Amino acid sequence: MFTGIAPRYDLLNHVLSFNVDRMWWRRAARTFDHILRRPDARILDLCCGTGDMTFSLRGRAGKSSPTILGADFSHAMLQRATEKSSSALENESTPRWVEADALRLPFPDAHFDLVTSAFGFRNLANYDAGLREIVRVLRPGGECGILDFGEPKGVMGGLYRMYFKQVLPRVGTLISGVSGPYAYLPASVQRFPEPEEMLGRMTIAGFSERSWTPYTFGIAGLYRGKKR
Ligand SMILES: C[S@@+](CC[C@H](N)C(=O)[O-])C[C@H]1O[C@@H](n2cnc3c(N)ncnc32)[C@H](O)[C@@H]1O
Repeated sequence: MFTGIAPRYDLLNHVLSFNVDRMWWRRAARTFDHILRRPDARILDLCCGTGDMTFSLRGRAGKSSPTILGADFSHAMLQRATEKSSSALENESTPRWVEADALRLPFPDAHFDLVTSAFGFRNLANYDAGLREIVRVLRPGGECGILDFGEPKGVMGGLYRMYFKQVLPRVGTLISGVSGPYAYLPASVQRFPEPEEMLGRMTIAGFSERSWTPYTFGIAGLYRGKKR
């Protein structure tokens, strides 16, 4: 499904979110400045797609040059990420891209200081297995940041649901030329646990100091946790 929309994915992201997506990636990346500024840090951006979250992490790291990897199981998405890295980051050390399933990562235990995922975690077939795999590859004390959609409440929630369920699937299908993925999007957000439940699952998986910070009325939000 993601391979089918890869060529138009960036355009659609920016159009459908009115460019707010860029702000969300930057805000999430900024949260982890204390890790990104360490030259010895190892960072993994899971379900990286065409790499926008990965590039935000890279941008915040500046001259510190930690090791940053982006991983995704869609080859077409990673191809776009590679094209973008050669044009966008001439003076910075470029992230490396790895084709991998988030549920079976090809990395040793306790390897990373930070694992992030933007709008990817929600798509995993098994959330608990996904959390366990993140815990496995994090070193003790390492941090996790999962940025994903939520469902705002109140008046904003009503407007948002109308846009998300009626407008977005139609525009998405029109621009991408593929029917399906943009109808799947609202369904996948509905399937995703509420913050309270997600934080509980994070505790069971092995995280402490967990939190959820809503972005833009809770349309999106950042889950954080530290490996115990
Ligand atoms: C909505 S896109 C998000 C891409 C990017 N992180 C962003 O913020 O634009 C979701 C990505 O998750 C990837 N994905 C979904 N399930 C995956 C899995 N089990 N392992 C690796 N990647 C996965 C898809 O291929 C897709 O590129």
